[in-house]
Amino acid sequence: MLLAGVVFTSCGKSARVASPDCNTTVKVTLENGAPYYSVVKNGKPVVNPSQLGFLLNDKTPFNGDFTIKKVQRASFDETWEQTWGEERYARNHYNELTVELQETNGAQRLLNIVFRVFNDGIGFRYVFPEQPNLQDFEITEELTEFAFPDDYEAWSISAYKVKYFEGIYAKAPISKLDTVSTPVTIETDGGYLAIHEANLTDYAKMNVYPVAGTTTLKSDLTPWSTGVKVYAETPFATPWRTLIIADDLNQLATSRIMLNLNEPCKIEDASWIKPMKFIGVWWGMHILEYTWGQGVKHGATTKNVMRYIDFAAANNIPGVLVEGWNEGWDGVWQNNGELYKFTTPYPDFDMPKVAAYAAQKGVEIIGHHETGANTIGYEQQMEASYDYYKKLGIDAVKTGYVSRLLDKKERHGSQYGVRHYRKAIETAARYQIMIDNHEPVMPTGLQRTYPNLMTQEGIRGQEWDAYNSSNPPEHTTVLPFTRILAGPADFTFGTFKLTNMGPEKTRVNSTLAKQLALYVVLYSPLQMVSDMPENYEGKPEFEFIRIVPVDWDTTIIKDGKIGDYVVTARKDRHSTDWFVGAITNEIGRDIQVDFSFLDPNKKYTAKIFKDAPDANWETNPYPVIIEEKEINADSVIDLTLASGGGAAIWLKAE
Ligand code: NOJ
Repeated sequence: MLLAGVVFTSCGKSARVASPDCNTTVKVTLENGAPYYSVVKNGKPVVNPSQLGFLLNDKTPFNGDFTIKKVQRASFDETWEQTWGEERYARNHYNELTVELQETNGAQRLLNIVFRVFNDGIGFRYVFPEQPNLQDFEITEELTEFAFPDDYEAWSISAYKVKYFEGIYAKAPISKLDTVSTPVTIETDGGYLAIHEANLTDYAKMNVYPVAGTTTLKSDLTPWSTGVKVYAETPFATPWRTLIIADDLNQLATSRIMLNLNEPCKIEDASWIKPMKFIGVWWGMHILEYTWGQGVKHGATTKNVMRYIDFAAANNIPGVLVEGWNEGWDGVWQNNGELYKFTTPYPDFDMPKVAAYAAQKGVEIIGHHETGANTIGYEQQMEASYDYYKKLGIDAVKTGYVSRLLDKKERHGSQYGVRHYRKAIETAARYQIMIDNHEPVMPTGLQRTYPNLMTQEGIRGQEWDAYNSSNPPEHTTVLPFTRILAGPADFTFGTFKLTNMGPEKTRVNSTLAKQLALYVVLYSPLQMVSDMPENYEGKPEFEFIRIVPVDWDTTIIKDGKIGDYVVTARKDRHSTDWFVGAITNEIGRDIQVDFSFLDPNKKYTAKIFKDAPDANWETNPYPVIIEEKEINADSVIDLTLASGGGAAIWLKAE
């Protein structure tokens, strides 16, 4: 709801806007015609005066010689319901300032900068209005800076040295960072900042790098192969640049600024969109027990997929992912998509029979399109391949773009890539198909507008544990405060056979109890049950995976330290039950969990799945103790998390 009407303020050299709680203020100034912004919270500088603007065609500056033509203000407060999410309702509450700039001389071009100031951070974007002297243009650089007052420690992954954002987040002082991908999470004196972006629609993904010898991070847009960053035409708006300003980890991880800066849902009837858990003919390929292509070890045979369907139906797992079902996997694995055919099943996979069997058992098949990063070929087959699945009753598809460059030329995070991913989501929405996008561009909250974009990879997931390059135990304690700030991730935990996997004898660096806890700690509305059915048979711990939900009413980070441990509590969206997940890095630790978040008028039975006293990720990952306790809002329990371990709690309301 728009609270205050638009207010026109007279021109000057600066303008200010404060957050609804008045604690955070953004000031925009012109210094010799160049726009700068700064941010102060509770009287302390958060961002010192920082440059704004662009270099356009052939590096012509578009960042100086400006005057403020007009300033507009607005306020907004609305609570909206998420189609699915970490919480049911999100509050979108901000004060807005639009600074309309015009060049004094020459072409007198126009540029508007819009700031939204929330209680937990800010967002700003550039708008290029329709104008006579700026129509088609190229962005050679975006000059946006974030000048931090100190050389704080920041968590990040390299933008260009890491493929598909599958990196291990490391901590380093701002001034020592490489060119890094956002989200970048900064630890300040007692608080947290996170730089990212929202609503990346027709633009290049933003990275940031330190201006040499300073604590200023500057925008770096992922280029096209031509070196140009963005091709645009007025009227044109950039994505929002976002900065979460949080007092604690709970505020950091539950900030909804990114979602609020995306457009409301464009899918009128979203009732076909269903968060779910899924098992898949998948892990077997990664640990070399199955193959994607045909042969004696082919995973996606009619018989084997029917076995997975039986297991899913018997165990409250709504979906079964089927990879390696279609022609095209027998050549070079990363074949740039020349051979993949999305409407031609392998002869040993009877697609209509399997689809009918799944329907009869009430199980959803999740289809698979590995494109090998051939987006041109995929776009040619896109309508036909969604239509093919839809006619078989399949309404979820995992897409993949394995290869360093899209179409052997362009980066995944370039404007070229961003346009392709958007096209796939919008086309899939027309066919009522949900998407799990692997090798994506880093997410920016598009799921608010298109909630059929369920989850994405763009994370160093558990599949790396199959390749002799396992993730260290610390990794999962960093992700809720870095990558997951950008949205849901298809991390694929739930592995029960943790050691000696496949001929390579690889391992998952986790205890079994931690595998359970990750269902609460790392959010995704499509959540994988990653192991093969035979590894779950007869395991009492599997009960937790059977019952844990994937769609939440409320989320609270109860406790934690980035890189050390995390305790997360979430309330199920469809019942009165709560769930708690606690995980630690390689250091075992004793923690206390209080249950003050529970309904004080209810009693709960807690079923606790925790590391046995002798459990240890390295030497003894399997022992889990399962116990029941009566719990209420006044209860406090002690838990010992093993080295690389965790605990998962199901709180069933009586
Ligand atoms: C990489 C994906 O991350 C993985 O999940 C998938 O199985 C393979 N590509 C094949 O598409």
